Amino acid sequence: MHPKTTTLFKHNYQATGHVVINQGGTSSGKTYAIEQVLFCLAAENEKQVITVVGQDIPNLKSGALRDAQVIHSESEILKRLVKNFNHTDRIFRFKNGSLIEFKSYANAQDAKSGKRDYLFVNEANGVDWNVYTELALRTKKRIFIDYNPNNGFWVHDKLIGKPGVQLFISDHRHNPFADDLMRRKIEALKTEDLELWKVYARGLTGKITGLVFDNWHICEAIPPDAKLIAAGLDFGFTIDETGCLQVYKQNGELWIDELIYETRLTNTDLARRLASSGISKSTEIIADSAEPKSIEELKRLGWFITGAKKGADSIKNSIDILKRYKLNVTRNSVNLRKELGRYTWRTDKDGQSINQPVDTFNHLIDPLRYVALNKLNTKGGNGVKSRLPVPQPPKEGTLDAFLGLA
Ligand SMILES: Nc1ncnc2c1ncn2[C@@H]1O[C@H](COP(=O)(O)OP(=O)(O)O)[C@@H](O)[C@H]1O
Ligand SMILES: [Mg+2]
Repeated sequence: MHPKTTTLFKHNYQATGHVVINQGGTSSGKTYAIEQVLFCLAAENEKQVITVVGQDIPNLKSGALRDAQVIHSESEILKRLVKNFNHTDRIFRFKNGSLIEFKSYANAQDAKSGKRDYLFVNEANGVDWNVYTELALRTKKRIFIDYNPNNGFWVHDKLIGKPGVQLFISDHRHNPFADDLMRRKIEALKTEDLELWKVYARGLTGKITGLVFDNWHICEAIPPDAKLIAAGLDFGFTIDETGCLQVYKQNGELWIDELIYETRLTNTDLARRLASSGISKSTEIIADSAEPKSIEELKRLGWFITGAKKGADSIKNSIDILKRYKLNVTRNSVNLRKELGRYTWRTDKDGQSINQPVDTFNHLIDPLRYVALNKLNTKGGNGVKSRLPVPQPPKEGTLDAFLGLA
């Protein structure tokens, strides 16, 4: 029924375990394969209820739900079998009475609602064990799980090795549809950090420690009275994403909203995307100074854009500045959240952390650093200036002159 499938699809389609775990590196095709299986299960049997669960709706929208929409729109057979897709409640309804719904649950209580035949827990390390158990209790036939194994979590502690639990480990080499640039980028991690390479290139359970930022939290929105400081922009193209975000300040805390994260944007595309993402032409954009030509082109298109001043030790300095603040990251900033969760200090060959972050997964973190370095670089923390007043010579005959302080 699907002309384009991988071995991962076959393994998941033929799985017999009650719980089918797909652990794997980046782009091994886990999510895509499991969703193809779910479409088959829904199409082949009447009145099946299938729930796809993610950490939150923005995560689903940028990942599993988007992939499901691609799978659906590229298959003539599926387009005939699916009655409709409702964007508001995110449900594919089939003519045979089956449905596939995309949901997230705030807590275990919330997860007690509803029953289903099949469950797919997407990027399961973002979902609580308590939520999982409530959903699993209400799943009749089979549970699929997928994740990148950055660290051990409840799947490793409570499921793997138990009866009825199958485990498939995959990496990009199992996915013939992954593009070559992506493969090179994943393999290049080997020279950056071996632990990251193990996890993202080989799908082996890692122990990713030494996260650079632990001072960030998810917020629902930017407070209306927060003051916009600047936008940050990092240029990418083929392999790296162009990343853009806006940074605000309120109550001595920073509030950050991701706006652009996309490859293959020309400067004309980028100008269009800056406008459509709501950046005002009077907002200063601090951009990567390594691309003066792009900066000049955007300037000529009317944008208030300046190259970031970097200077010696700028990476370490900008990280130090950012660590002085509580960072509030909007829930919609899915890619920034992902980068913050992967941005670690490099380790040397003995596994000792060195004073240098891994130079990958930073296409939104870099622009954030540019804003920090160029707009928040004041000594004394939280933006309070501590520059001393210039002393004035005391007037003759004053107390200072008398005390010899002149
Ligand atoms: N059967 C397939 N047909 C077409 N493209 C696929 C297929 N499987 C995977 N891909 C491509 O590979 C990319 C990575 O797959 P994905 O399932 O997102 O990986 P993972 O979930 O393991 O990170 C997808 O975005 C899609 O472009
Ligand atoms: Mg995935």
